[in-house]
Amino acid sequence: MSIAETAGSPGAAAAPRKAVTLARLADMHARGEKIAMLTAYDATFAAVADAAGIDCLLVGDSLGMVCQGLDSTVGVSLDAMRHHTDSVARGLRRVRGAAWLVADLPFGSYQASREQALHSATALMQAGAQMVKLEGGGWTAETVRFLTERGIPVCGHLGLTPQTVHALGGYRVQGRDEASAVRLREDARALQDAGAAMLVLEMVPAALAGAVTAELAHCATIGIGAGRGTSGQVLVMHDMLGIHLGRPPKFVRNFMAGAGSIEDALRAYVLAVKDGSFPDDGMHAW
Ligand code: KIV
Repeated sequence: MSIAETAGSPGAAAAPRKAVTLARLADMHARGEKIAMLTAYDATFAAVADAAGIDCLLVGDSLGMVCQGLDSTVGVSLDAMRHHTDSVARGLRRVRGAAWLVADLPFGSYQASREQALHSATALMQAGAQMVKLEGGGWTAETVRFLTERGIPVCGHLGLTPQTVHALGGYRVQGRDEASAVRLREDARALQDAGAAMLVLEMVPAALAGAVTAELAHCATIGIGAGRGTSGQVLVMHDMLGIHLGRPPKFVRNFMAGAGSIEDALRAYVLAVKDGSFPDDGMHAW
């Protein structure tokens, strides 16, 4: 089945949106317009999400759990990331999509050296990513600088960093005590100073995520389980459509409940992020 040519298919009727760019994302952050991001792993869901008005798509290494049935993201390979990035990018191209495309550097593909990170990031950029995301605190700043100086936009990822779940002792809220909150704020500043244009904050207290966001003039924060005070939100698409193996995390809302179609559910998510009604800090945050 063709995505673009099929009657009623995503993007078939709607007027084309202006492409989301790095400059536009920075402007949204500066003006306080919320950025709506979702994960996508294949061409068709990418096209539907784009038609629903999503600002950013993330080819997350969560594909290890969602698509491959793994227990964690640790087993996801660079080849798998390249394959899914290629599929999502192709889906966006087929509908002349506007969404900004971010892809995760998987575990073991950037930790060894700056050169290893450049090699891995190149593979994802050549598959169609416009930005790469990597997990970790201040120790990644040197790598972030190396990549951004070479024209590769970078998104950081602090708080709960799933690739290090074994070191963290589980999927737990991070930055709850004073010392770790101070460290997270320092790490966020170091990543911004190194050139990161975006920063995912996962499972950190809402007050801390809000404070980090207020401190970063040049780096948009994207929260997941981090409250409503961030520049934008991200969820795993399958989670917010109510399909998951096991129990969904507390920070997820099922947007499929009451929606007539998947595209409607995705549109409702975009709207709820934009108008600030999702997340509800009383229900989805700490
Ligand atoms: O891999 C992923 O999907 C992610 C998001 C949940 C932030 O990193």
